[in-house]
Amino acid sequence: MAQPVSIAPDGTAYPLPRPEEYAGEYQRLEKRVEEARRNGQEIVVVMGVGFVGAVMAAIVADSTDASGRPRKFVIGMQRPSERSFWKIHLINRGQSPVKAEDPEVDPMIHRCVLEKKTLVATYIYEILKLADVVIVDVQLDYEKVELGNVRSGHVEMAALEESFEIIAQHIPPQALVLIETTVAPGTTEQVALPAMRKIFRRRGIPGDPLLAHSYERVMPGRDYVASIRDFWRVCAGVNEEARKRVVQFLGEVLNVKKYPLTVLDRPIESETAKIVENSYRATILAFLDEWSLFAERNGVDIQKVIQAIKVRPTHSNMIFPGPGIGGYCLPKDGGLGVWSYKNILGFEDEIFKMTPLAIDINDTRSLHAAQLVRDALREMGTPIANAEVLVLGASYREDVGDTRYSGSEILVRRLADMGAEIRVHDPYVERWWEFEVQDHYKPSRADFFRNQKRLRDLAVLKDLPGALQGIEALVFAVRHQEYLRLDPGWVIEQTGGPVAVIDCFCVLDDDKIRRYLDLGCEVTGMGRGHIRRLKEELKKR
Ligand SMILES: NC(=O)c1ccc[n+]([C@@H]2O[C@H](COP(=O)([O-])OP(=O)(O)OC[C@H]3O[C@@H](n4cnc5c(N)ncnc54)[C@H](O)[C@@H]3O)[C@@H](O)[C@H]2O)c1
Repeated sequence: MAQPVSIAPDGTAYPLPRPEEYAGEYQRLEKRVEEARRNGQEIVVVMGVGFVGAVMAAIVADSTDASGRPRKFVIGMQRPSERSFWKIHLINRGQSPVKAEDPEVDPMIHRCVLEKKTLVATYIYEILKLADVVIVDVQLDYEKVELGNVRSGHVEMAALEESFEIIAQHIPPQALVLIETTVAPGTTEQVALPAMRKIFRRRGIPGDPLLAHSYERVMPGRDYVASIRDFWRVCAGVNEEARKRVVQFLGEVLNVKKYPLTVLDRPIESETAKIVENSYRATILAFLDEWSLFAERNGVDIQKVIQAIKVRPTHSNMIFPGPGIGGYCLPKDGGLGVWSYKNILGFEDEIFKMTPLAIDINDTRSLHAAQLVRDALREMGTPIANAEVLVLGASYREDVGDTRYSGSEILVRRLADMGAEIRVHDPYVERWWEFEVQDHYKPSRADFFRNQKRLRDLAVLKDLPGALQGIEALVFAVRHQEYLRLDPGWVIEQTGGPVAVIDCFCVLDDDKIRRYLDLGCEVTGMGRGHIRRLKEELKKR
């Protein structure tokens, strides 16, 4: 049988390691660890080198003591899965496994791996035996089984529970285990601690594991590194020693002088803080959904309304939700809290109203975007079935290449369901993973729609003029810089004639809307009820 491979975003295939390679890998790392210890460095294992772990690992590896000497040797530990094994190869070559707009990321990883030699990556769990500190940055998924109903879903706890067991089986008793993964409140004290304690007892270790929780507020994008290193952190430990150790460790690797730590009494408080923080954000975004519809139907431009309100400092964080709220965190974090209340903390009653409702609203918002595409095409005399639709933007937010749970995915799936022919362009996204693997990795949001088979081959186009040629509808789905700059005259030259233009993210200002209208296009947009007025003004001229 052919050896399984892990395929990197550039298409390179890396064969997964064979069992006989593991011993050699351990010896290679043991030597590096011995050398690091001779240099007085602490050994930090980061479990999971994804969006959070890869950059956190580099930040720890780049940290120095007051005299400028590196005091941490970091081993990024990544399980050798087909989906993620390639990340180890990239890191060990000094390359970032995450594509980042932040110019600090690539040189930092290069510097730590190849110059300072404080960062390596591996696939073997045995390396945990050598750790002074373990940082857990693996994912914890929330599986939704229905579109628009977060309550019927559940947390995929098995993989995380297994990680806790693996850690407890290997670590030295005095190692600090810092959980950064966003977990269901109660996980550190009521799931991880008892499970790890049991394994410690089996190993003849009398004390408790030094467990702590501190959540990430990372924002992949232009300030990726700063959003981890130069930002406020909340933390807590399961006991006094764990608390002291986590405060000391974070103080050594993050800029706590300028951004002091908030130390809470118990991990469940730190875990709850993360869930409330993201549920709050999801809720204020969801709140604007109904007002966006109100604006569309009553001649109001929601963007101008938001700008008018935002000048009030108390309301400065009001933001337009675009065609749905994606990213790895906001669609699931509230669900972790709701699930935990019943399943970890053992309550039967339903206390949650707003948190699940906000997620459900955000998850289904892009269905309305698809309706606007259908309506705009209809105004142009074109049925949606077989219409050539170009969606601009696949990622979940502007100027990043992360497509996880993006609003664009549901938009594309619903358009395909309605029979449209879809093209997608995104300057930051190489491959749209969610479509490529929709048949193998379950759950897939493909299961909520019809006509999804062909989307498996959906390529993300890079050549914008080519992508525009011959389309009938143009959907602005993400506020990427490149799209904000597009000139309507140039766009219509490429398309070859007037098209339906659907602005889902307040990308177009009134001048551009007028110009598209002037060029014979039908223009509509989420929350942009004033477009009808602009159209009438043009007719009167
Ligand atoms: N991405 C963000 O913007 C963000 C922001 C704040 C918090 N978080 C939280 O941080 C956590 C990690 O998120 P992410 O975005 O880095 O996820 P990710 O999927 O990019 O990375 C997780 C990595 O862990 C690896 N992994 C899984 N199980 C493992 C195991 N047993 N041993 C070793 N490696 C394992 C996976 O292969 C993957 O590479 C999540 O809880 C997330 O909610 C993410």
